[in-house]
Amino acid sequence: MNDTTPSSFRPDLLAGQVAFVTGGATGIGKEICRVLGRHGARIAMLSRREEKLKAAVEELQREGIEAHYAVGDVREPQAVEAAVRDILARFGRIDILVNNAAGNFPAPMSQISPNGFRAVVAIDLLGTYNVSRAVFDAWQREHGGNIVNISAPFELKGAALQAHVAAAKAGVDSLTRTCAVEWGPYGIRVNAVAPGQIEHTEGMQRFAAVVEDSGPGSPLGIAGHGSDIAHAVLFFCSPAARFISGQVIAVDGAATVDQLKLGLGRI
Ligand code: COA
Repeated sequence: MNDTTPSSFRPDLLAGQVAFVTGGATGIGKEICRVLGRHGARIAMLSRREEKLKAAVEELQREGIEAHYAVGDVREPQAVEAAVRDILARFGRIDILVNNAAGNFPAPMSQISPNGFRAVVAIDLLGTYNVSRAVFDAWQREHGGNIVNISAPFELKGAALQAHVAAAKAGVDSLTRTCAVEWGPYGIRVNAVAPGQIEHTEGMQRFAAVVEDSGPGSPLGIAGHGSDIAHAVLFFCSPAARFISGQVIAVDGAATVDQLKLGLGRI
């Protein structure tokens, strides 16, 4: 995925800042790294697979973005704390945290094993808790910053084949609001972006393998790009959003609010 659309933001918007993106080596996470990096942030990423991290860091460095990685699993608090220490030793600050790491496989509730359900909740929800706490304790409590959680637009609806993900992301939305309230006094804004159908992601490929083509996926008649999510993250981290916190914004071409899904086109 390298579908960055031209930016409406000035290129030095995040100059001097450090952005820590979990799951930043692939998919939407890598696009978030690229877009934040193109706006001046130094990038730190965390994920389980070192070869993907290495490749992503090299790719960003070829584009002139300063990037660094730590290997670890967001489910392991001690690994997360070690990663945060490593990033602070390297870059000296963590202004932006993007909780993007997520596990997902499409399956009916009746076929998700307890371990499968637990794995997804542990990555998506506990992982967000683990990393947010570690960054708060080690840096943002003293210095403020931004946290952006990557959620899903499922909170108010049923989501077939996504029982584990929908439950976990509803928890992420709740954490987003609670952290915004508790950490606002520390100068930390906490928001979330809930992506709709985004092209060329592992998640969409897994879905396409089990669900027949359901059309363009939004009333706009298009699917999204990773850079659509990345620019929403960038907006939340920008001074333009200085009074916005505790919000979950769907970036989905109006798919979530399309209750009847009639696909009428221009009427
Ligand atoms: N269907 C049903 N169950 C599945 C599954 C699938 N496609 N994929 C994983 N599971 C189950 C496993 O069977 C296991 O349960 P069990 O022990 O009862 O058999 C459980 O989930 C954990 O799987 P495992 O692979 O051992 O754990 P893991 O922690 O390494 O990885 C995921 C779990 C969910 C993270 C893994 O499936 C994954 O890497 N997904 C890709 C990440 C992704 O798509 N990210 C994009 C998010 S939108």
